Amino acid sequence: MFSSHIARVEELVREQNDWRDHCLNLIASEQVLSRRARSVMGSDFCHRYAEGHPGERYYQGTEKIDAIEADVKRYLKKLFGCLHTEVRPISGTNANEAVFSRYIKPGDIVMVNSTPGGGHISHQKAGAVGKLTRNVLTFPRTKDGYHIDVGRTKDLMRATKPTTVIFGKSLFLFPDPVAELFDVCEKIGCRVVYDGAHVLGLIAGKQFQDPLREGAHILNASTHKTFPGPQRGLILSNLGGDDWRQIDKGAFPGSSSNHHLDTLPPLLITTFEMLAFGEEYAKQVIANAQHLAAALEKQGFDVQAKEFGYTKSHQVAVDVSRYGGGSAVSSLLKENNIILNMNMLPFEPISHHDNPAGVRIGTQEMTRMGMKQAEMDQIALLIGDCLVRGKRVLDEVKKMRANFQTVHYSFDAPAKK
Ligand SMILES: Cc1ncc(COP(=O)(O)O)c(C=O)c1O
Repeated sequence: MFSSHIARVEELVREQNDWRDHCLNLIASEQVLSRRARSVMGSDFCHRYAEGHPGERYYQGTEKIDAIEADVKRYLKKLFGCLHTEVRPISGTNANEAVFSRYIKPGDIVMVNSTPGGGHISHQKAGAVGKLTRNVLTFPRTKDGYHIDVGRTKDLMRATKPTTVIFGKSLFLFPDPVAELFDVCEKIGCRVVYDGAHVLGLIAGKQFQDPLREGAHILNASTHKTFPGPQRGLILSNLGGDDWRQIDKGAFPGSSSNHHLDTLPPLLITTFEMLAFGEEYAKQVIANAQHLAAALEKQGFDVQAKEFGYTKSHQVAVDVSRYGGGSAVSSLLKENNIILNMNMLPFEPISHHDNPAGVRIGTQEMTRMGMKQAEMDQIALLIGDCLVRGKRVLDEVKKMRANFQTVHYSFDAPAKK
């Protein structure tokens, strides 16, 4: 009865696979799994339940997932050099909710990165924080807009005494000043949460700031942006036992029940990949971002934060208002298989969110597919051809991408010729 509908579903999945394999995928929050990590998804685990911790479950038949989950925790602790890992959140937002629900009480003052300053929606009044308190203050920023102003933030923190500060953001070109602000945080006794959803793979590769060593009590993250794993969330910490137990309860039963077991085996394989290749991968991701930024500038684009070397992460921000704004530009590029997203730039009014001035570009996925500086030059040229010189570049993009079909920094065998 539904056979044609089912065939259509299968066809859409095939089309998606083929299409995105022939795109320049530059969305800063996405990533691809290695072939070996992907091959352990879709198993019987996608049917099963395992509430609780390995060895202490509320269900029978969990021995195999217990072994996998215990190893995920063990090797993540090794990778990040920390005491505790909570792997049950099923996304970065879910990890944030688990922590925020334990830390933030009604009426509490919380300090976060604003939306135009790059902050994530879950940190804002409209998101997870706003469900707990309406007293949300934002970090004062420096003139360029891409950095927290340390001096003014210290003054504001002393005057307002937030109970929780949340570092980290979605437009994240430069590290946040966790170490610089930690003495004030300690003096006023506030909790320090660092949302490393975007930069977890760079932290794992030791090429970005190390928030737990700089004073953060909690490092929350997604496992699928610069960390090249399946879509899940993570909480890492060095807290003492009792403090950690409340976070643990925030994850379960506070914010989840079953935790999508099917994606734990690929998370374990990705963790091994990061232990083996994380440093090399993270270095190349950042080198590619810096190179792409300079190459786009040579094409005449208004690349942001030039005076600070453009970026120290996987991201590049470009003001494309001259070409119709972020919405028009990202749509036109998508027609040419160049996939990136529009983004507000610092100091834009929130009313610009439908067509902001900027686009955000991430190099992590194409780096994992083996691209280096020479390919960043080629990408900048293709974007210039499309936006500045009005050319259609679809065929060139497909041809270029056809040569990059193997996931690097992994244990995948080289593709057969
Ligand atoms: C800073 C930050 N935190 C949290 C999230 C949410 O992560 P997830 O999509 O895994 O829920 C994002 C998403 O992009 C993010 O940028």
